Amino acid sequence: MKILGIETSCDETAAAVVEDGNKQLSAAVASSVSEQALYGGIVPEIASRRHIEHISAITEKALSDAGCTMHNIDAIAVTAAPGLIGALLVGVNFAKGLAFAAAKPLVPVHHLRGHVASLYLSHPTLKPPFLCLVASGGHCHYVQVHHYTQFAVLGRTVDDAAGEAFDKVARALKLGYPGGPAIARAAQSGSPLAYPLPTPKVAGPFDVSFSGLKTAALNVINQAAMRGEALNVPDLAASFQHKVATILTDKLLAAARHTACTTLCLAGGVAANTLLREAAEQKARAAGCALLLPAMAHTGDNAAMIAAQGFYEYTAGHTAGWDLNAWATWPMEEGFPEGTSA
Ligand code: KG4
Ligand code: ZN
Repeated sequence: MKILGIETSCDETAAAVVEDGNKQLSAAVASSVSEQALYGGIVPEIASRRHIEHISAITEKALSDAGCTMHNIDAIAVTAAPGLIGALLVGVNFAKGLAFAAAKPLVPVHHLRGHVASLYLSHPTLKPPFLCLVASGGHCHYVQVHHYTQFAVLGRTVDDAAGEAFDKVARALKLGYPGGPAIARAAQSGSPLAYPLPTPKVAGPFDVSFSGLKTAALNVINQAAMRGEALNVPDLAASFQHKVATILTDKLLAAARHTACTTLCLAGGVAANTLLREAAEQKARAAGCALLLPAMAHTGDNAAMIAAQGFYEYTAGHTAGWDLNAWATWPMEEGFPEGTSA
């Protein structure tokens, strides 16, 4: 079964064709990230406008690269939440029009469920149950994946997402946007223990917090500026990255012990972080757990993950009607309103 996936929740206009939930046939993308970088972060209206300009051509490219026409497509999956509302609406309305014209089922996909599904693309033999840390620019969730469409969120960030903290510290260090890769690059020549940063305290056993850590890093930057002292940027980048990777992986292992789950996964844009991947690998091995990582191409936002999850949603009977809306927030455990669309 071939699913066309469409993703426009943030600054990537992406379309992809995936067969049977784990075989990527094509992936096309246009990104407004270089334009967003001029502003040091995402400008929602720019994202929406670029999606409108690119979505038709990107979808055509995904179909032709897969050697398909709409006749070969069984259903159209689209990110319906969470994300920038104006950006999501472009994808949802485009998918709706295409599905209506081609008389295909319309399948709404939760963006974070899509990030989880990126693991099926990289590891086609992976099957639930497993435990997954989904760490992106807007979210940081510890998710028990009971089944392809059944999830329990064990813990989450109580304030900033890990990616957001990377972006804000990178901005203060004038390293550019997106901040995660920039911090990782700067950290290569730094010492991770040079700046002692605090480990934030949180009440929930599997919750995390990054706001205090971000503020502590910003204080180091501001104090150096006030005192006229030189700041060692690689050292601060390395110390910050080390602390984030330690917090994220310690909680992942705590959640694994609590659930007795021995298959652990990382997903989301922050899962591209090499130090995080290495720390998770080392701690999982020590605990006797298997760790599965998404291919780098599937860590950040992409449409193949939406098509992959779309396959599982569709086979579970989760389709939408022509009144499908988009939502800036939506709990990943909950399904979307259902309807008939083919
Ligand atoms: O999943 P994603 O592409 O978009 C959202 O759903 O938010 O995640 C984007 C986030 C950004 O905050 C970016 O700085 C972060 O992922 N990121 C990284 C790395 N690459 C991207 N964070 C740390 N290290 C990286 N190598
Ligand atoms: Zn994402």
